[in-house]
Amino acid sequence: MPNTAEVVKPVASLMGVTKRIGSKTLISDLTLDIPPGQIFGFLGPNGAGKTTTIRMMVGLISISRGDILICGRSIKDHFEEAIANVGAIVENPEMYKFLTGYQNLRQYARMVPGVTKERINEVVELVGLSQRINDRVKTYSLGMRQRLGVAQALLHRPKLLILDEPTNGLDPQGIRELRDYLRKLCQTEGTTVFVSSHLLSEMELMCDSVAIIQNGRLIDVKQLKTVGDAAVPVSQTFFEVDNPEAALAQIGQGVIMEGGLAVDAVREEIAELNAKLVAAGIKVYSIKAMSRSLEDQFLEITGGEGIG
Ligand SMILES: Nc1ncnc2c1ncn2[C@@H]1O[C@H](COP(=O)(O)OP(=O)(O)OP(=O)(O)O)[C@@H](O)[C@H]1O
Ligand SMILES: [Mg+2]
Repeated sequence: MPNTAEVVKPVASLMGVTKRIGSKTLISDLTLDIPPGQIFGFLGPNGAGKTTTIRMMVGLISISRGDILICGRSIKDHFEEAIANVGAIVENPEMYKFLTGYQNLRQYARMVPGVTKERINEVVELVGLSQRINDRVKTYSLGMRQRLGVAQALLHRPKLLILDEPTNGLDPQGIRELRDYLRKLCQTEGTTVFVSSHLLSEMELMCDSVAIIQNGRLIDVKQLKTVGDAAVPVSQTFFEVDNPEAALAQIGQGVIMEGGLAVDAVREEIAELNAKLVAAGIKVYSIKAMSRSLEDQFLEITGGEGIG
């Protein structure tokens, strides 16, 4: 795993974060760095503690032990400075239903210094709401309301956008569009996105990295590989061939192992690599996945346990 997080300053750091309510420990000693410029997934089954963690990150509830830094500023000690870098939708954002989407943004922009008309138009365009922005919010679908919420959260150009289960209630097309505009946001404004979900398949398509949480504890952080506009997990694949050296020369990557070549590849690449080998006259006897996929790991971690 590249150690970019060590070289580049994280946008957010959770440091031994613990949340207790009464005798119950909801989050235990959660330590996590969120590197800049990424779409970072926060994956866990229902009741894992995603919302609780996010509520601490945005200061909606207190942190029992540990601290959270946003752009190096403590949420506990320098809340105003820390939160200035954050845009978030945690609970349903307050909107005036009888005003248009645009009027809502204007209203909100009044409370935020430095938000221009151009900026409002920019965020509306970014979330793909231009067509409906002058309609009243009461006529909006759930997906449109969510877009408006994201637009509002982005007005002040936050370094970190936090979304709690943004795909809930969206149809496949809506999920795809969300993915597209989050990616665009990440690329054009350099915004880091922290997004929670209980669905691994969504996280795989949307995120550059995924942290897995269960029962209030961090289980693992996985990096995913971007292919086209989707991120997919890399797994090691073993090609059993008659001539491993020739296979290595042909593919240009991998490690020679007994009777074959081990290559880091994503699903689509496996077929392409195989075609290359065959075309070069190399005999392929078998192709095996060497490491477990993220899905296997996630299911193993969360499977059968039910709600924690
Ligand atoms: N105010 C509270 N008092 C007591 N327990 C709480 C409180 N809020 C949350 N919990 C418990 O903390 C655990 C984590 O809840 P949380 O809402 O953070 O999970 P989640 O990962 O967001 O789940 P979901 O996918 O269902 O949204 C759950 O067991 C929940 O019942
Ligand atoms: Mg939740």
